Amino acid sequence: MTLQIENLTKDYVMGELVVSALNGVSIDIKQGQFIVILGPSGSGKTTLLNVIGGIDRPTAGKIFFDRNGKKIDLTALNEKKLTAYRRLNVGFIFQFYNLVASLTAFENVELAAKLTNPAAEARYLTSELLEEVGLGDKSNKFPAQLSGGEQQRVAIARALAKKPRILLADEPTGNIDSETTGKVLKLLQKVNENHKVTILLVTHNVGISTLADTVVYLRDGKIFGTSQYDPAKEKEFWEQLTVTPPIDIT
Ligand SMILES: Nc1ncnc2c1ncn2[C@@H]1O[C@H](COP(=O)(O)OP(=O)(O)O)[C@@H](O)[C@H]1O
Ligand SMILES: [Mg+2]
Repeated sequence: MTLQIENLTKDYVMGELVVSALNGVSIDIKQGQFIVILGPSGSGKTTLLNVIGGIDRPTAGKIFFDRNGKKIDLTALNEKKLTAYRRLNVGFIFQFYNLVASLTAFENVELAAKLTNPAAEARYLTSELLEEVGLGDKSNKFPAQLSGGEQQRVAIARALAKKPRILLADEPTGNIDSETTGKVLKLLQKVNENHKVTILLVTHNVGISTLADTVVYLRDGKIFGTSQYDPAKEKEFWEQLTVTPPIDIT
């Protein structure tokens, strides 16, 4: 799986006002990468993820998605095909978890697993994933009975349940304390390794970017730099995480 993003733009038109959320973004994404997109609030991070995930469409530009040697341009797909792309390939993790309140942790994950797996397999996969995220003993709890960190772990299991090639995480630790943030980020690193799934995580938190193998810096809808993984920085991040909250650049 690779994604080639070429010169994406996204304009929101509101009456006479045009907000340019993306302004010529190009990135190459390879299978298994852990990419962090770092930028202040309003820089276009959510818009970029939504366009890559097929939730939204760009105004211009191309997104070539290559899976098993078959290359398709997402921007040329009709609604039905774009939905199929999203359903089969993309897992989403949101800041506010977006779990179904009336379903247990197990049922939330199972619902997603059933999208791409026969019922018996979906049940088995759901148990396995809940074990993997450390919630095997809480699978019958409802979201309201779980902490924020636990709900986010259910959401990670749910995102993995359809065996996606890409995980898109929009400020996944934006709503939890720094210690729990550490646990959720460690889990995402493990998931990236175990499932060979590509992760694109957007954040305005500088500290989190140290986990990435590539950091893409976004400002005013434009990429103004990229940097590569630095083990020393990551070590420092884990050391700081339990002492002080990581630095914010908003
Ligand atoms: N649906 C929308 N309608 C109008 N403007 C929008 C919409 N979504 C986002 N924007 C604007 O586009 C810019 C980028 O937003 P967004 O992608 O949400 O940034 P970020 O996630 O980095 O905070 C902002 O100026 C925001 O106000
Ligand atoms: Mg956002």
